[in-house]
Amino acid sequence: MINYLGTPVIETDRLLLRPLKQSDTQSIFYHWLSDERVADNRVNAAHTSIAQTEERVKKIVSQYKNKEFCYWGIELKGTGELIGEIDLYDFDSSKDNCEVSYSLGFKWWNQGYGTEALQAVVEFGFRQMNIHKISAAHNTDNPASGRVMAKVGMKQEGVIRHMIRNAKNQYKDCAVYGILREDYLKSVCM
Ligand SMILES: CC(C)(COP(=O)(O)OP(=O)(O)OC[C@H]1O[C@@H](n2cnc3c(N)ncnc32)[C@H](O)[C@@H]1OP(=O)(O)O)[C@@H](O)C(=O)NCCC(=O)NCCS
Repeated sequence: MINYLGTPVIETDRLLLRPLKQSDTQSIFYHWLSDERVADNRVNAAHTSIAQTEERVKKIVSQYKNKEFCYWGIELKGTGELIGEIDLYDFDSSKDNCEVSYSLGFKWWNQGYGTEALQAVVEFGFRQMNIHKISAAHNTDNPASGRVMAKVGMKQEGVIRHMIRNAKNQYKDCAVYGILREDYLKSVCM
């Protein structure tokens, strides 16, 4: 059974994963949600007005009272900057499985932060929440995300053709990855 714990603060070497606040709206808009380079790898279109982000953050913040809601902002401990977001979602209580997704602002790409955040959330999901399997999918034209999944021990399970149609009306093939709790715990020697 999944042990829902909401969105507690998680600390890693360089990052603080913490609930988002309404006052994060500007950072979220400028650092990733309005950026086409980030949006091109997500399903939804880039935000064109801060009001859209305001609304989205409002919706997220309103769900923190729900223990089944796991949605972290990724903050750099060194500077206090909010650099991205990561969430566990689509909890399936019939199998104790869920999905994970994440995004970082462009200026922080390729510095290991995505891997550090995903590693921490996978660890939390398996050890604290008792999740059985965590899955994710990335567009095949976004190999960096697949690399992040592989670096935390997720295995590629196949490629689904035209799995999504993005906001630009383009169909995208997606590589599907997963990691089982039993394999994760074995890999880190319990
Ligand atoms: C995907 C994302 C979170 C990765 O975060 P990140 O902090 O840059 O990731 P890391 O630095 O931990 O690792 C990136 C890895 O991808 C590799 N990489 C980068 N560009 C690559 C490319 N074009 N092809 C193959 N590998 C690539 C890097 O070399 C690195 O691997 P390495 O450590 O073995 O050298 C970030 O790029 C992002 O936010 N992208 C936009 C949104 C998105 O794609 N979200 C995920 C949707 S599934």
